[in-house]
Amino acid sequence: MAAVAGGVLAKAVTRSGGLGILGGGYGDKSWISHEMGIVGAARVGIGLITWAMADGVLGAVLEHEPAAVWLAFGDPSPHIPAIHASGAVVICQVNDVDEASEAADAGVDVIVAQGSEAGGHGRSGRSLFGLVRGISAAVPEVALVAAGGVNDQRDYEAVRELGAAGVALGTAFYATEEALDVPEAKQRLVDARGDDTLRCTVYDVVRGPEWPTQYDGRCVRTEFTDTWVGREDELRAVVEPFLARYAEAVEQSDMSLRVVWAGEGLDSIDAITPAADIVQRFPRVMGIGM
Ligand SMILES: Cc1cc2nc3c(=O)[nH]c(=O)nc-3n(C[C@H](O)[C@H](O)[C@H](O)COP(=O)(O)O)c2cc1C
Repeated sequence: MAAVAGGVLAKAVTRSGGLGILGGGYGDKSWISHEMGIVGAARVGIGLITWAMADGVLGAVLEHEPAAVWLAFGDPSPHIPAIHASGAVVICQVNDVDEASEAADAGVDVIVAQGSEAGGHGRSGRSLFGLVRGISAAVPEVALVAAGGVNDQRDYEAVRELGAAGVALGTAFYATEEALDVPEAKQRLVDARGDDTLRCTVYDVVRGPEWPTQYDGRCVRTEFTDTWVGREDELRAVVEPFLARYAEAVEQSDMSLRVVWAGEGLDSIDAITPAADIVQRFPRVMGIGM
């Protein structure tokens, strides 16, 4: 989770028996370096948004000797040799079966099937159950992880029946003490329900950068989404004052305007807890990161 999963959260997840992934997002090297300093000796992965990777970012990431590099939203193949040469595992998040087959052919070690229920960026289209079934049939030889609305052991058992070996969680870890965000944002995760989330692109217009057109993101609805979703071209035409206004809204924690990325699994979130409490909901998958 770009910028939300910092060193404190990634380390807490690994220390409690999962595999923490630092949210390297758009590849800010100094942020990654600072947060990996907090991680210290704990074994964590580092996530990067593939289409946004600038020259030199992967090299800088690998200097931190992550256990894994999580690539999502773009072609992973140019980056796989360097990641493997470093000894790290390549995790690749995908949104459809063809993308999973291409990732498998390219040599990734783990495929994450991201259903459209998921919080944060992704693609409208495939929801998790059908996607897991489709990918596990198409590429049975690659370890498959399911992401999107997963909260506890029951979700794990369900996706395991469909062919997944593990689960990845975002929104549930956002609602933890260790996640990097203001209390007002985390309170939205507690107060809002799955019905209050929607997939849209309006935040990419006012926050930047604009994403490739096949991607959108699931977030909690706000006055801003109520006003602008469906009017994206109009928003682009008047975007200039919004850029500063949005930055100000983040500064002031104005929750009527600023984004809180979150998935449909919000129905199960009723408190901000330590990350270890989330990991301990999965007694059968604990122990991989330690
Ligand atoms: C706040 C937030 C930020 C995210 N940032 C990223 C990201 O930078 N890269 C990525 O691959 N996925 C990102 N995701 C998506 C997660 O990788 C994952 O697919 C998703 O959280 C799983 O669904 P869930 O939120 O219902 O648990 C993000 C999700 C959230 C909630």
